[in-house]
Amino acid sequence: VVGAKDISGFKTKLDKFMEGMVTCNEWQRIQSFQARPDDLLICTYPKAGTTWIQEIVDMIQQDGDLEKCKRAPVHHRHPFIEWVRPPQPSGVEQAEAMPSPRTLKTHLPVKLLPPSFWEQQCKFLYVARNAKDCMVSYYHFQRMNKVLPDPGPWHEYFEMFMAGKVGWGPWHDHVKGWWKVKDMHCVLFLFYEDMKKDLKREIQKVAQFLGKNLDQELLDKIVYHTSFDVMKDNPMANRSGVPRSFMDLSISPFMRKGTVGDWKNHFTVAQNERFEEDYEKKMAGTNLTFCMEL
Ligand code: A3P
Repeated sequence: VVGAKDISGFKTKLDKFMEGMVTCNEWQRIQSFQARPDDLLICTYPKAGTTWIQEIVDMIQQDGDLEKCKRAPVHHRHPFIEWVRPPQPSGVEQAEAMPSPRTLKTHLPVKLLPPSFWEQQCKFLYVARNAKDCMVSYYHFQRMNKVLPDPGPWHEYFEMFMAGKVGWGPWHDHVKGWWKVKDMHCVLFLFYEDMKKDLKREIQKVAQFLGKNLDQELLDKIVYHTSFDVMKDNPMANRSGVPRSFMDLSISPFMRKGTVGDWKNHFTVAQNERFEEDYEKKMAGTNLTFCMEL
């Protein structure tokens, strides 16, 4: 005898599986995506500060014009190239319909990026965030995001993340992959923790990378509008317009804490030891280092 709860649980899992299949079916189209030489691609591992850097880039590109930045929620301003969610137009379709110069977004690791981005020598803006805070942020995101698999209890999610069995794969491969290509291509590699430490300095780096000169007043305006507290109250950034059936912000807000070191409120001492041991192995041979607390 199967209870109603089992059936609805099975249906949810089946729905999520079918949604995953849609992306698989579109994979060839994603891989053959035609980049243009003046494309800017924002690249991140999920929860590394994608929304934050998107808002910064948009404010720089719109010369600080807040009305222009309000034209759409930030996650709709830049096509997400591997996004497939019918009947909405896919990320590829949105990008194809966009006039140049385009700013696009991806969470793809280097090895899965459509090759034309390399061929066209596009600009890449990568933001990396330390693994422990990414894990915590991802866990809370999966709790409230009804399209992603339920993360289960924290100790189970911890194991899943360590094994790389989360959306967009292992964190370690992602950051190492992008770190490796940064000197061979036009990549500005930023750290979430540096942005927390000195936002003004990091915004200046982005502006320079985009070939924009910001005067002091404009720079201060962008720093203010992209601070956590202001973005948390900005309906164009905080996902408050997303239907509850997709993101239930009452479970966990999208703009949750925005800090460095929240992992200390989640990791047990034993988990931290295991994590460190595994991390050392997986990150051996790279000179990429992260700040885990400020
Ligand atoms: P937390 O869950 O740790 O709060 P993404 O946009 O890649 O999904 O990343 C979301 C994470 O970035 C969330 O982390 C969110 O709070 C944080 N974030 C978004 N805007 C921020 C800002 N202006 N300052 C600091 N953190 C920000």
